[in-house]
Amino acid sequence: MNRSDLKQIDREDPMASFRDEFFLPEGIIYLNGNSLGAMPLGAIQRARKVVGEEWATGLIGSMNSAGWFELPLTLGRKIAPLVGAKPNEVVITDSTGINLHKVLAAALQMQPDRRVIVMEGSNFPTDNYMVEGLLIQLGDGYRIRYAEADGLMAAIDEDVAAVCITHVHYKTGHVLDMAAITERAHAMGAAAVWDLCHSAGAMPVDLNACDVDYAVACTYKYLNGGPGSPAMLFAAERHHGKYLQPLTGWFGHKAPFDFDRDYHPAGDIRQMLSGTQPIVSLSLAEVGIDIMLRADMRDIRVKSMRMTNLFIKLVEQRCGEFGIKLASPRDASSRGSQVSFYHQDAYPVVRALHDRGVICDFRSPGNIRFGFAPLYNSYADVWDAVEKLYDILKTGVWKEVKYRKRSLVT
Ligand SMILES: Cc1ncc(COP(=O)(O)O)c(C=O)c1O
Repeated sequence: MNRSDLKQIDREDPMASFRDEFFLPEGIIYLNGNSLGAMPLGAIQRARKVVGEEWATGLIGSMNSAGWFELPLTLGRKIAPLVGAKPNEVVITDSTGINLHKVLAAALQMQPDRRVIVMEGSNFPTDNYMVEGLLIQLGDGYRIRYAEADGLMAAIDEDVAAVCITHVHYKTGHVLDMAAITERAHAMGAAAVWDLCHSAGAMPVDLNACDVDYAVACTYKYLNGGPGSPAMLFAAERHHGKYLQPLTGWFGHKAPFDFDRDYHPAGDIRQMLSGTQPIVSLSLAEVGIDIMLRADMRDIRVKSMRMTNLFIKLVEQRCGEFGIKLASPRDASSRGSQVSFYHQDAYPVVRALHDRGVICDFRSPGNIRFGFAPLYNSYADVWDAVEKLYDILKTGVWKEVKYRKRSLVT
């Protein structure tokens, strides 16, 4: 297999035309859609509309006439099929961490006599931090029981109030078995709360088939919602009106424009909202979501698995002798849409890759993380990225002092 074979595969790729809907800067191989998705070209037009028309001329009237007030629910209805939810079970609002705070607080009300939350210690830290913060507020003996993937099932016993974990591991890309872990949680009487940051838009997810209670996900990665775009929040319909999220702002009130003195919660997914929404960001997020809705999630998964398999094979063939080791599952079905390699000097290698137009990221202490977005990455991208990596490792150019200086964001 050589580059021209891969160009041919790209020409035959049924998803190839999606690439034209994104702005990809000349000379850049963007393998970082697992941090921030590429910009859909339609976002520029949408930005002009929301700012230049809806805000500029519609002013406050756009709350009604441009559908601003309903936007978190409108987008929730759109995203729902991508994660196996019903249209009335999802909203797009706030950040992933804030949504996690809200849903976990609600989930803990399901088992008021229990005090243990099971989490994966190596999870993306914000989840753990947000839960620590929630527990400070709750006091009363609440605590986190940390376990790693292979010990999760055993950690879920009858003391556990909720299991709060991430579907696809942010560093390794390892996929946890959502159905089995949720089943175990329920068998022990615990709620199941999932973080889908690295799975929403990257692979099929079926929250209701797995009987999940609550879930969150960001929209700025594989859903291409834009920097800081608001996050997804899923609450199973059976819990609506029963358990309250605690950030009880007026948007979650059953009649916000009655301006009651007291909080009376909406009996549906609206209760998961807190306050005035970031309309510009929400509007831009819709553009990415609309593109994703036109793709078939099964095709996305097939292409993602092919690209990551090819990448692993080529990196090991070309770069294996330079101290680089696979840090992701080898079996594609246990892996999300990213591949992580360990290298002792991962940071300068990543910086040298950036300098040569390959955008990936570094995750401490030694992971080089490459994200593959089937909507806009091509098989030729995979080849070219490996060739650049080979060149950097072979020449040792990454050893230059300039590549050692840490940026604020890695
Ligand atoms: C698994 C996971 N959860 C949460 C977040 C981020 O949360 P927030 O959007 O609140 O910053 C990330 C960010 O990369 C993540 O990978």
